[in-house]
Amino acid sequence: MTTSKSAPLSVWRPIATDTFLVGAPHYPEHVDESYWQRDAERMAAAGFNTVRLAEFAWHILEPHEGTFDFDLFDRAIDVLGKVGIKIIMCTPTATPPRWLTARYPEVLRVDANGRAMSHGSRQHANLASGVFREHSKRITKAMAEHYRGNSYVIGWQTDNELNTSGSLSYGPVTLAEFQAFLKDKYKTIAALNDAWGGHFWATAYDDFDQVVLPLDYGPAPAGPTHLVDYHRFLAFVTARFQHDQVVILRAANPDWFVFHNLGSLDDIDLRGEFSTDLDFLGFDIYPYLDDEKQRIGGVGEAQALRLDISRSFAGNFIVPEQQSGLGAQPNWSMLTPEPGEMRRMAYTSVARGADGVMFFRWRPAHFGAEIYWMGIIDHDDIPRRRYDEAKQFAGEVTALKDKLLGTYVRMDLGIAGSDFDNQEMHRSYPIGLPSPQEDATLLHRYCYRHGIACGFIHPEDDLSKLKALYVPHWLKWTDPWTARIEAFAKAGGTVILGARTGSRDINNHVIRDTSPGKMLSALAGVTVEEFGRLTPVGSDGLFAHGGRFDAKTVHQKLPATSAGRQYELKIGNVQAAAAHLYELLNVASDTEVIGRWASRFAEGQAAMTSRKVGKGNVIYLGTYLTDALVELLVEQVLAQAGITPLIADIPTGVEAAIRESKDRRLLFILNTLGESTAAFGIPSGTTLLSDGSRRGDSLVLPAYGCCIIELDWP
Ligand code: GAL
Repeated sequence: MTTSKSAPLSVWRPIATDTFLVGAPHYPEHVDESYWQRDAERMAAAGFNTVRLAEFAWHILEPHEGTFDFDLFDRAIDVLGKVGIKIIMCTPTATPPRWLTARYPEVLRVDANGRAMSHGSRQHANLASGVFREHSKRITKAMAEHYRGNSYVIGWQTDNELNTSGSLSYGPVTLAEFQAFLKDKYKTIAALNDAWGGHFWATAYDDFDQVVLPLDYGPAPAGPTHLVDYHRFLAFVTARFQHDQVVILRAANPDWFVFHNLGSLDDIDLRGEFSTDLDFLGFDIYPYLDDEKQRIGGVGEAQALRLDISRSFAGNFIVPEQQSGLGAQPNWSMLTPEPGEMRRMAYTSVARGADGVMFFRWRPAHFGAEIYWMGIIDHDDIPRRRYDEAKQFAGEVTALKDKLLGTYVRMDLGIAGSDFDNQEMHRSYPIGLPSPQEDATLLHRYCYRHGIACGFIHPEDDLSKLKALYVPHWLKWTDPWTARIEAFAKAGGTVILGARTGSRDINNHVIRDTSPGKMLSALAGVTVEEFGRLTPVGSDGLFAHGGRFDAKTVHQKLPATSAGRQYELKIGNVQAAAAHLYELLNVASDTEVIGRWASRFAEGQAAMTSRKVGKGNVIYLGTYLTDALVELLVEQVLAQAGITPLIADIPTGVEAAIRESKDRRLLFILNTLGESTAAFGIPSGTTLLSDGSRRGDSLVLPAYGCCIIELDWP
């Protein structure tokens, strides 16, 4: 497998590879060796080309400090390799062995109450710990040197879902590292006091060794810049921990690809060194888990949202783990994909940027914390419908790989995303309002349901392939980004800037100019005269007191406190309820008012504006999105910007996406429902794969049916 190591991070970047990875994470250490040959043969018969091994096997590989034993994995790799299965090895640092945590208890993370994490689960070690880093480097080096000449081993995964079981730590080791990080960043304590606003509540320090870790609500809120710097520090520590391993792996064998499988995304700056260190990113995809955890309201939507967010950091990715059956840990479980749905999920991943899919996991464990995490093979060693679907998918995707690889996912509408500072600045001071991501989710959902090519993109990325860009209240904004969106507008693009954009600076301070700041004001033709909070749609109460924004507390029904204070917004002839936040805008003479407040004291004042910039427009929206507002935006602004559905008539539950390159366009039409349905207005082209029947411009798809059409060119 050849991969590109140097292409800059971009949502448009395909993985430069000649192999579509398909297979499963595999744990030969969980079964008797008598299973191994049969497992390998079944994998090969299913068309798998890769398995992932060893991410939780440190205790086997280094049973005593400094003593290594590769025997089990050598034999397992040999059995797999001989039937044509390649190996992704993992650094096993998510689960340090007991000898390590017993002898070096200082490597354990410590929670905000001073309680050390315990051995017995996973991710209990502290990535900031110098002692843990040394152990991590030693096991990585030993494994890398042992496998450098093994031709079956083609690449590496670092650790496993870093930070997914937690990233916070409040012990003395973390404190010392935090102080060192701050000293390196600010150089003088006066600079830190300025950045953190030390004259507020006497939070100034005399020296770096006095700086504390931010205990939020211990008892009152911590300073927002203190909090943001703590999360920047955690991201720095995570990238540094991974970097140690990457350097060792690359030195051992420069032909290996190196990636990480991301889970929660917390405290990782995926547009920073964490990603530039890697050949590509991996994202673990558990659609039913995302749907229930985030209350998205649809498994297809939940998966598409997660994939579109994932792609925004570094372009195409692999899915090292994808839900195959029921998944559970002791206190919860997720819904079970129905027949055909596992394969549909795999195609959704491919449609939205996966250049490799591995099904979690080859076989389920009979013991431990995940005994009901079903695999491709069942507990009784019988291959059933999940095996058949995996086999079907592997055969199909391998046959299509030359068409798929090298293409990127089309986006007509981009939503500004993937900015670590903006996420953390919001979280440090949410005042009960939706995050930029939550706001954008409403627009993404509309596009998903209507078959509009929409995804997330950073303003530093190449904007030229977009028709429109929506910026959801990014508190932090920089002048170079203004220059980029101005160039985009001049060339014909439409930019929509959400309320509060640009209202804080790099230190998370409120800016001293009138919002949205000099350059953005000049570009948009507005300044913000006043802003204030509105209740969420359908709610008339207050949100609960607390730290990070929690959609559940905001949307739950609470006693009426502001009944009758509903604010309305009018765009064109249509009036809709507004929510979350209002701004009153002062509008420049060359800027048109296209929406006004339509109720209470704000009635008649400008709420939304449009300024012609070159061949395009810059729209300013002085509120946050609601479902009603999204519809108005699409009808009255985005349709004029050329944003139209990929398929003219897309029924509920069917999703559409295009992967394209300079010489081909592949349209994916996937039925996420357990019943058959029909789509109309399908463009002409050659069917590469179809479970349905096509007549004229209509397509009838069975339950979970999939179709890929290579569109006629141009
Ligand atoms: C992932 C993790 C796997 C396994 C799986 C099911 O988060 O990487 O190790 O735990 O979920 O829980």
